[in-house]
Amino acid sequence: MALPKVDFEVGADGVAVITMCNPPVNALAIPIIMGLKNRFDEAARRNDVKAIVLTGKGGRFSGGFDISVMQKVHRTGDSSHLPDVSVELVVNSIEDSKKPVVAAVAGLALGGGLELAMGCHARIAAPRAQLGLPELTLGIIPGFGGTQRLPRLIGLSKAVEMMLTSKPITSEEGRKLGLIDAIVSSEELLKASRLWALEIGERCKPWVRSLHRTDKIGSLSEAREVLRTARQQVKKTVPHLPQQLACVDVIEHGIVHGGYSGVLKEAEVFKQLVVSDTAKGLINVFFSQRAISKVPGVTDIGLKPRNVKKAAVIGGGLMGSGIATALILGNIHVILKEINPEFLLKGIKTIEANVNGLVRRGKLTKQKADAALSLLRGVLDYSEFKDVDLVIEAVIENISLKQTIFSDLEKICPPHCILASNTSTIDLDVVGKTTSSQNRIAGAHFFSPAHIMPLLEIIRTDKTSAQVILDLITVGKIIKKTPVVVGNCTGFAVNKTFFPYSQGAHLLVNLGVDVFRIDTLIRNFGFPIGPFQLQDLAGYGVAVATSKVFADAFSDRIFKSPLLDLLIKSGRNGKNNGKGYYIYEKAGKPKPDPSILPIIEESRRLCNIMPNGKPISVTDQEIVEMILFPVVNEACRVLEDGVVIRASDLDIASVLGMSFPNYRFDFLYSLFKIDNN
Ligand SMILES: NC(=O)c1ccc[n+]([C@@H]2O[C@H](COP(=O)([O-])OP(=O)(O)OC[C@H]3O[C@@H](n4cnc5c(N)ncnc54)[C@H](O)[C@@H]3O)[C@@H](O)[C@H]2O)c1
Ligand SMILES: *[C@@H]1O[C@H](CO)[C@@H](O)[C@H](O)[C@H]1NC(C)=O
Ligand SMILES: *[C@@H]1O[C@H](CO)[C@@H](O)[C@H](O)[C@H]1NC(C)=O
Ligand SMILES: *[C@@H]1O[C@H](CO)[C@@H](O)[C@H](O)[C@H]1NC(C)=O
Ligand SMILES: *[C@@H]1O[C@H](CO)[C@@H](O)[C@H](O)[C@H]1NC(C)=O
Repeated sequence: MALPKVDFEVGADGVAVITMCNPPVNALAIPIIMGLKNRFDEAARRNDVKAIVLTGKGGRFSGGFDISVMQKVHRTGDSSHLPDVSVELVVNSIEDSKKPVVAAVAGLALGGGLELAMGCHARIAAPRAQLGLPELTLGIIPGFGGTQRLPRLIGLSKAVEMMLTSKPITSEEGRKLGLIDAIVSSEELLKASRLWALEIGERCKPWVRSLHRTDKIGSLSEAREVLRTARQQVKKTVPHLPQQLACVDVIEHGIVHGGYSGVLKEAEVFKQLVVSDTAKGLINVFFSQRAISKVPGVTDIGLKPRNVKKAAVIGGGLMGSGIATALILGNIHVILKEINPEFLLKGIKTIEANVNGLVRRGKLTKQKADAALSLLRGVLDYSEFKDVDLVIEAVIENISLKQTIFSDLEKICPPHCILASNTSTIDLDVVGKTTSSQNRIAGAHFFSPAHIMPLLEIIRTDKTSAQVILDLITVGKIIKKTPVVVGNCTGFAVNKTFFPYSQGAHLLVNLGVDVFRIDTLIRNFGFPIGPFQLQDLAGYGVAVATSKVFADAFSDRIFKSPLLDLLIKSGRNGKNNGKGYYIYEKAGKPKPDPSILPIIEESRRLCNIMPNGKPISVTDQEIVEMILFPVVNEACRVLEDGVVIRASDLDIASVLGMSFPNYRFDFLYSLFKIDNN
């Protein structure tokens, strides 16, 4: 790989073009930042340089500060890997340069990339470049003066919104907001930027130093009002994330004490946050997400993924139609097979409803929805299976049924076709027993609803070929899932790891702890809903069925709670029939249902585990630990048994499959007193 470097070239027009070269996104690694400092010094010194253009190689400006530097700080515990304040101020010195500097922005300018661009005296952009300050997603705040310059360029409320949401904007939006001075085609970008820089020098174009501007931030009282609203919003929506309020505070500091003071404050707060547990957690997630699709023996042996153009889904139930929806949204032709016209119609209607639901929520255009639905065909026999590249079987869990299907598939499908099953309880080797195609059989485990939930567990057996795994990973990415390759065991990676989760919650309830207290505490920890509301959502049938499976598989660590059976007997089935632990009305949040209390009492009586028949007394912290520590234990077993190939795969799978809060891995680090490597 080419070493990161900063190129420098002076043209006949007297413009020095400084180019950041660190493919693929010109991340601001330390050598790049040092190189920039040297190149700008050189440009200042040289008499033949009248003006400067700053740009990035390969059609991208810069993706931002090199995140691996922060990971290194976490791993070594040594903050001296971070650039010191003089480097922080490199953007200030660019801005204060006696020669005009123009940023020529193509592709993306994110984080430190945009911060550099904002230190320039003007910004010329190619169409549809991505501009944003996404630092908060990593548990830190923007650096290099980003918290100070963005409000001064585009106004406080839009700047606060961009930082707090981490959402990028396009150069076209940037042009309207005043972040970008002109948009020109990528071919013209350098030429137009050189000209612009010269014109600044000749005072034909304004020489703007963003940090010195005050015209866009309004009066102090207006600013305070904007910041007050932002703080309220943060406290309401993301109370767990310290970087959010810290960011607002730093912005305010600059408004009250001036931009330069703001830059120094920003550097100070950045240094504190970078070593926070939240940043450790989120940066771990950033790299884990990238590692997950690298599978030794599959993605590193020179295989090329084969094209999957046409897929078949067998079974149009909830799972099957969700899977079919995901496939057609990924532009893959799908034939959906059912056993009779009535079920087929129901499946197709479900798929249409899935797609239309996305349109209604503004997630998909009508045009794209129509295009996706045009890729779907319903069938009642195998006549169209002659040219499919992939079959995903999603019928009920019935061994002989699945065996029949797979031996039929072997006869009808082309020999390259991948044969996947969504089974969770039947051994894949047994499924494929009556075939001689075991090398192309794998498991594809989606999470419900399959067209929305982002995780895909790909289950390999000893016999599944590397090519088949690679193809499934590729299809998974095409349909916008995060694929994780796992080994066979009851529950696979996520459900096995989390079976003690609802079990722990039930144990606590039978020991006398309040259901709603538990849900609230788990929500406060950062899960979107608590374990009991989750059971309401899935329906009790699912919970009863899965706990039976786990009871059989892990009889040494099972707690049997009578509660679910009692709830079902009393006519409850969770959200489905509007009667669960909570009352579900059409609008508004679910409300705790006081009428379940006698049922819980009955469960406690039957279970009879309360010491002296009295509810135990536990702290909030203990409750959270009694639910999550057994999950951590189980995660260790999953790792030990080789169900996942690395611990970080399970981190991502838990975030995506169980909504484990991604900024909460600090909980684990402090538990083990370890770092995230
Ligand atoms: N400096 C910051 O505050 C900050 C914050 C978030 C994202 N980013 C950068 O924004 C860009 C887009 O991120 P995304 O996740 O939305 O897009 P993405 O997932 O498409 O990633 C874009 C590219 O970033 C590369 N990348 C991987 N490790 C990196 C690293 N250590 N430093 C820089 N780039 C790395 C990836 O390989 C990929 O090619 C990335 O370059 C990312 O590093 C920067
Ligand atoms: C597989 O699909 C069937 C039919 O939709 C469904 O009943 C079953 O729960 C699915 N299995 C898994 C593990 O999701
Ligand atoms: C399972 O499938 C087989 C073959 O299709 C069928 O004969 C049998 O009745 C099914 N068993 C159950 C429990 O549904
Ligand atoms: C898969 O796991 C199940 C449940 O633990 C087990 O019965 C089966 O033998 C396993 N199959 C393989 C191929 O390892
Ligand atoms: C995992 O759990 C979910 C919900 O609890 C359930 O719908 C699904 O069938 C389970 N899958 C497996 C593989 O156990």
